[in-house]
Amino acid sequence: MIIDPKQEERIYYILTGIVAPRPIAFISTKSSKGVHNLAPFSFFNAVSAIPPTIVVGIGRYIDSKPKDTLLNIEETGEFVVNIVSNEIVEAMNMTAAEFPNDVDEFEIAGLTKAPSIHIDPPRVAESPVQLECKLKQVIQIGEGSTESGLVIAEILLIHLKDDIIVNNRIDNSKLNPVGRLSGGMYAYTNETLYLKRPIYP
Ligand SMILES: Cc1cc2nc3c(=O)[nH]c(=O)nc-3n(C[C@H](O)[C@H](O)[C@H](O)COP(=O)(O)O)c2cc1C
Repeated sequence: MIIDPKQEERIYYILTGIVAPRPIAFISTKSSKGVHNLAPFSFFNAVSAIPPTIVVGIGRYIDSKPKDTLLNIEETGEFVVNIVSNEIVEAMNMTAAEFPNDVDEFEIAGLTKAPSIHIDPPRVAESPVQLECKLKQVIQIGEGSTESGLVIAEILLIHLKDDIIVNNRIDNSKLNPVGRLSGGMYAYTNETLYLKRPIYP
């Protein structure tokens, strides 16, 4: 089978099924009116370590209403990426509904706000890792109702629960990050393997 993305109505489900599992950025922002917002995004990755840089792809609209997260990031230039572990995956999912922009999704999900140090939006206290981020650039992708913004941001500060660092490395079995597959499917990351990197003789 071959698929021409331009002819394929189900391209979103096919693409997100292929590029999987994806990490989830559980993003907290604060609107210019002072409302706290929380929502998950799996078009997310780290793309550089020095400077520490992440990218997130956020649809501009859903049902012709602007997505609050992209709007807030563009207006304030600040956001927190909270990493989603097994313990908070269901709370994360609760925030993915299209709540009106005056609803505080921390309250919907029963999650606790922890103050950030360099930026205004709060962190999710229950998340094992929180990244304070400063916007660098938003690149427009597509147009009209399917337009997205590719958010490029620098990490200013990394907050980590102490026990997830073992021998100066992140211990995956302590972090337990959840991966996103297609639609409502997710992957636990408890089953891992180690491969020694080969050296060219
Ligand atoms: C696990 C998960 C990952 C998601 N990833 C994305 C994404 O990468 N980009 C996007 O635009 N929407 C994504 N969504 C949908 C948004 O979370 C959803 O549209 C949300 O209501 C946006 O909230 P906001 O208006 O408060 O920004 C995802 C939803 C879930 C459950």
